[in-house]
Amino acid sequence: MKKVLITGASGGIGLETARRLAAQNYQVTLVARNEAKLNNAVTTLDGAGHTVLVADLTNKDDLQKLVNHLKTEKYDALINNAGAGIYGKFIEVPLVDQLAGMQLNMDALVTLSYGFLQNAKSGDTLVNIGSLLAHSSLPGGAVYAATKSFVANFSESLWYEFKQKGIFVMGFNPGAANSDFHANAGGHASDFPKFVMSSVEDVAKELVSAMGKRRKPRVVQGWKNRFMLFGFKLLNRKSAINIMGQISPGMQN
Ligand SMILES: NC(=O)c1ccc[n+]([C@@H]2O[C@H](COP(=O)([O-])OP(=O)(O)OC[C@H]3O[C@@H](n4cnc5c(N)ncnc54)[C@H](OP(=O)(O)O)[C@@H]3O)[C@@H](O)[C@H]2O)c1
Repeated sequence: MKKVLITGASGGIGLETARRLAAQNYQVTLVARNEAKLNNAVTTLDGAGHTVLVADLTNKDDLQKLVNHLKTEKYDALINNAGAGIYGKFIEVPLVDQLAGMQLNMDALVTLSYGFLQNAKSGDTLVNIGSLLAHSSLPGGAVYAATKSFVANFSESLWYEFKQKGIFVMGFNPGAANSDFHANAGGHASDFPKFVMSSVEDVAKELVSAMGKRRKPRVVQGWKNRFMLFGFKLLNRKSAINIMGQISPGMQN
């Protein structure tokens, strides 16, 4: 039986991915801040032996405890999925909140990757969850989009560094999905046209499939997202940024 640790797994994409992996006989450790949600989430997984760990990944002590756990408990896979964004114009969102987002989306992800990869063996897998916004800027979400570019770029370098050792590193980039992410970011999932919205089930299905294939260092989820990205690449950069600014939930006020 393989073991996987998934951050940000009390709901949304993380929990759905946990459900899929548990159904494939993985033993899963779910990590997030909300203990009640985690305890409820773990009961929804197939199989036995799953556990939860309560940790705020922006808290240095919690993060260090999790790194220690990764070093003592050998995992076959780590999915750095916890992430958060804030919709709003850069100067109107408190700096402290934006810096906390950078800590979660980048510092914690790098720290956990480091802890995991120090002990990783051939056959192991590291997945870092980025976003379609890794490929685009987002006025009204400038810091969030920039953190996701970081994740995709970082993951590609690690993919190269570890492939000779048989360790697979993948940056997985979902498009807009119908989780609590948008409400937590101060927006609504309904801010996006329905045709671009994926279900968390579809995202998790593609994530687990790409994990199994162990091929690409950068995966964009969903054919509609890949199609949109192709269209964006045909535009000049200025036009692409203008379009993103017009549709961004963070630019509506
Ligand atoms: N939904 C989308 O449209 C979308 C699109 C592209 C990329 N993504 C990325 O996909 C990933 C998962 O997002 P999601 O859509 O599933 O969002 P979500 O439903 O808001 O879930 C986020 C998860 O992260 C946990 N979390 C948040 N802050 C944390 C912290 N400080 N420490 C530990 N855990 C924390 C949350 O649990 P607690 O609140 O219990 O801590 C929750 O389990 C994120 O990296 C996000 O950036 C999402």
